[in-house]
Amino acid sequence: MDKKTFYVTTPIYYPSDKLHIGHSYCTVAADTLAKYKRLRGYDVRFMTGSDEHGQKIERIATSLGITPKEYVDKVVAGIKDLWASLDITYDKFIRTTDEDHVAAVQKIFKTLYDKGDIYKSEYEGWYCTPCESFFTEHQLVDGKCPDCGRDVERVKEESYFFRLSKYQDRLIKYIEDHPEFIQPPSRQTEMIANFLKPGLEDLCVSRTSFSWGIPVTFDPKHVIYVWVDALSNYITALGYGSDNDELFKKYWPADVHIVGKEIVRFHSIIWPAMLMALDLPLPKQIFGHGWLVIDGGKMSKSKGNVVDPKVLIDRYGLDAVRYFLLREIAFGQDGNFTNEALIQRINSDLANDLGNLVSRTVGMIDKYFGGQLPAEHAETEFDADLKSVAADTIVKFEECMDKMLFSDALSALWVLIRRTNKYIDETQPWVLAKNEEDMPKLAGALYNVAESIRIVSIMLQPFMPKCPKAIHKQLNIEGTDLTDWENIRIWGLLPKDLKVEKGPALFPRIDMKKELVELEAAIKAAQAENLANKAKHEAEEEKEEEKASEITIDDFDKVHLVTGEVIASESVKGSKKLLKNTVKVGNEVRTILSGIAKYYTPEEMVGKKVVIVENLAPRKMMGEMSCGMILCAADKDGNLSLITDDKQFESGCDVR
Ligand code: MSP
Repeated sequence: MDKKTFYVTTPIYYPSDKLHIGHSYCTVAADTLAKYKRLRGYDVRFMTGSDEHGQKIERIATSLGITPKEYVDKVVAGIKDLWASLDITYDKFIRTTDEDHVAAVQKIFKTLYDKGDIYKSEYEGWYCTPCESFFTEHQLVDGKCPDCGRDVERVKEESYFFRLSKYQDRLIKYIEDHPEFIQPPSRQTEMIANFLKPGLEDLCVSRTSFSWGIPVTFDPKHVIYVWVDALSNYITALGYGSDNDELFKKYWPADVHIVGKEIVRFHSIIWPAMLMALDLPLPKQIFGHGWLVIDGGKMSKSKGNVVDPKVLIDRYGLDAVRYFLLREIAFGQDGNFTNEALIQRINSDLANDLGNLVSRTVGMIDKYFGGQLPAEHAETEFDADLKSVAADTIVKFEECMDKMLFSDALSALWVLIRRTNKYIDETQPWVLAKNEEDMPKLAGALYNVAESIRIVSIMLQPFMPKCPKAIHKQLNIEGTDLTDWENIRIWGLLPKDLKVEKGPALFPRIDMKKELVELEAAIKAAQAENLANKAKHEAEEEKEEEKASEITIDDFDKVHLVTGEVIASESVKGSKKLLKNTVKVGNEVRTILSGIAKYYTPEEMVGKKVVIVENLAPRKMMGEMSCGMILCAADKDGNLSLITDDKQFESGCDVR
């Protein structure tokens, strides 16, 4: 029989920043779910990737003096490296610069255009480049981006639009009919109240003012809006729109898109509307997790408060970092990251509860039985309760994992771990060991503890890549089917004459006081390095922005400069600054007011061959209409000197 499929995705990451522990949170959660589903026998497809197009990336690359492709290639290698060090077991890493993705997105755009769901118009409004989001005037908060609080830019350009408004009612109905679609429920309420009910506007889906994007095939000066490009990855990565869509047929619709709360809007409104327009089924669920915050604020590179996951992995190991992320913060809510909380969790949950349980059990089997239990066991009065807590834990754990309640799943598991430690205290092996006739009881008790550890280790597997394997090694069951989920409910599968192998401590205890100082210093050092890079980057970006204010030859062509001859000049009544000049430009005569009375008398002006801006809109000054502008050089003190025609040509010559 074919296995049931399970398709889970993370967002695809912008390769604009060095990824921090906040970014890792989402990917670790998705990876844990993927590993869990694999253990439960599903045919899992787990996808992540990089979102490489858009104005933000183009600007960064230009500021670094390299092409966007060169830039993204470099950063994406770093992202993959981080995922490797966190043991992220994705099945495919999609890059939006992949050729097949590009072609498929172009097809999607064309299909929507042919259907009439995309049309050409003009966009005028605001754009937040870091968020790659459009905003109307009234959506801004104090003139800044409502999502990230940074400056927005005015955009006015020809654009294609997607008829998002057309899908508003269908979307509301779909969301209301499918309460599991947007999770947790608070995010669904937010989407309906804040975005859907106030009314959807059509979405601008192409840009012409930069070029780093996927070109619209039938109008190549437009590049496709980066969110349309990015969201499509969830299906293009399965071959949708290519010659081979086997994977798409097998895995779509996705079981869950796991995303951060600030991008739920794109995933639960724009993406489903696009899918509706393409006549494709919608993903079964969008799960919007919360943020890892530091001192109440989002961890972000611009604030300089990011924690580099590699620093933590180097100090405490991968398992501890993954465990902390998913245990400390309830998935769906924001959670504060503190160094104390991390070390506290490592010491109490991992070193004390779990590590200690394993080491004392193996230690006692070693001490009392030379490393191998005798086959003859006797029961104790505490066995039944231990077995029943184990059975209950498995049920609770599965329920929580199916709802992505990772923290609750772990806390259920720790009930069993603590119960097992308590069982050791109740059975008191060190007392049993004193009497020869209690040997079967001692063997039975230690066997039960080992069996409980085996069950615990099976549940730990999705969360921790290393520790369960180390436990299996100590219990001598590495690579056997005793570590499979099917065997989790059967108590007593370990061989009665279990042979154990002592191993190093799973999680060494940390000296909190000393470590806090050292950890703080290590995090600060990494942040300082980040900030130095950021400052360098910003200086380069600033230079780029200055360059961006340069004008093109086409812009320059818009200004018509011609020579003119001043044939009369007089003071302007009531003004000390202005002279009213009558200027002959070819066959035409015009009046031009100039603020040069301090530097030239009317008499000096007459006969001067000057340069004027011919096509400046006329304006009134001191009751007089002025048509054009006479150009002057200004020195550093603001003194003016007329620009004149050296060879004294006839007036009316082009100046260029
Ligand atoms: N490229 C878009 C996603 C496109 S998906 C079609 C994007 N990229 S991102 O790199 O900015 O963010 C990727 C994910 O990291 C998001 O889900 C975001 O919420 C998450 N996080 C970034 N900082 C975070 C925290 N401090 N805490 C938790 N998650 C955070 O958005």
